[in-house]
Amino acid sequence: MTLVLEAEKLCVERSGKRVLQDITFDVRAGEAFALLGGNGAGKSTTLLTLLGFLAPAAGTVRVNGRAVQDDVAAARAAIAYLPEAAALYGHLSARENLRYFLSLAGAPSSAEAIETALDSVSLETAARANRLSEYSKGMRQKVAIALALLREAPILLLDEPTSGLDPVAIDEFHALVRRLAGAGKSVLMVTHDVYGACQVAHRIALLRKGELVGRFTAPENGRIDTEVVHAAFVGRQAA
Ligand SMILES: Nc1ncnc2c1ncn2[C@@H]1O[C@H](COP(=O)(O)OP(=O)(O)O)[C@@H](O)[C@H]1O
Ligand SMILES: [Mg+2]
Repeated sequence: MTLVLEAEKLCVERSGKRVLQDITFDVRAGEAFALLGGNGAGKSTTLLTLLGFLAPAAGTVRVNGRAVQDDVAAARAAIAYLPEAAALYGHLSARENLRYFLSLAGAPSSAEAIETALDSVSLETAARANRLSEYSKGMRQKVAIALALLREAPILLLDEPTSGLDPVAIDEFHALVRRLAGAGKSVLMVTHDVYGACQVAHRIALLRKGELVGRFTAPENGRIDTEVVHAAFVGRQAA
């Protein structure tokens, strides 16, 4: 089984404070994995460490089997990262944003590739020439995902990708993430949303105040039980 992301006994400090303590988990190739936890649990910190923006105080993070500290460029090249607040330009259209950010990344894409990516995130064709300032948050999120797809990185890191979306947009987004995993992408999504984690993930790790306090695995062709995870999240026994 190929492991694309690994954290092993990972400890991270920020401003001299220990914010991750002995975190161990891995993400397999083609898997959708959710790191679930409340505000301040250390979810974003975990992603920033996998990207090499923060260094472990102890322990290791690996991307495709290689310690991130040993080759930050290789780690980042393998990963498309969707930050909490994706920075796209409101005065540009979806197509213009994609063209601009891809050329900035030194990876220009053809017009056809851009349309294909926008197709795969189901952004309405009629909206593609409109400015992003006219878009709903869900539509902007689709553009951000399309950008991540056009980077053709095999690993996706998604930081709270559905916060601020309405339930229809959330369902659509979760279906998209599952499709991507089905198509071979490896996805690590961090979220505080129990329902979303259960909708999307083959496995969930529950993070509380910098420590991993629970692990859940979906049954074959099934979903992880929302009630069980919810109970663990809020800290009581499942009924
Ligand atoms: N830039 C920062 N400098 C110092 N401490 C930070 C910074 N960002 C976050 N923290 C602290 O690190 C801990 C984990 O934060 P974070 O990883 O952002 O949590 P989450 O993404 O789960 O909400 C929190 O205690 C938070 O206050
Ligand atoms: Mg965060």
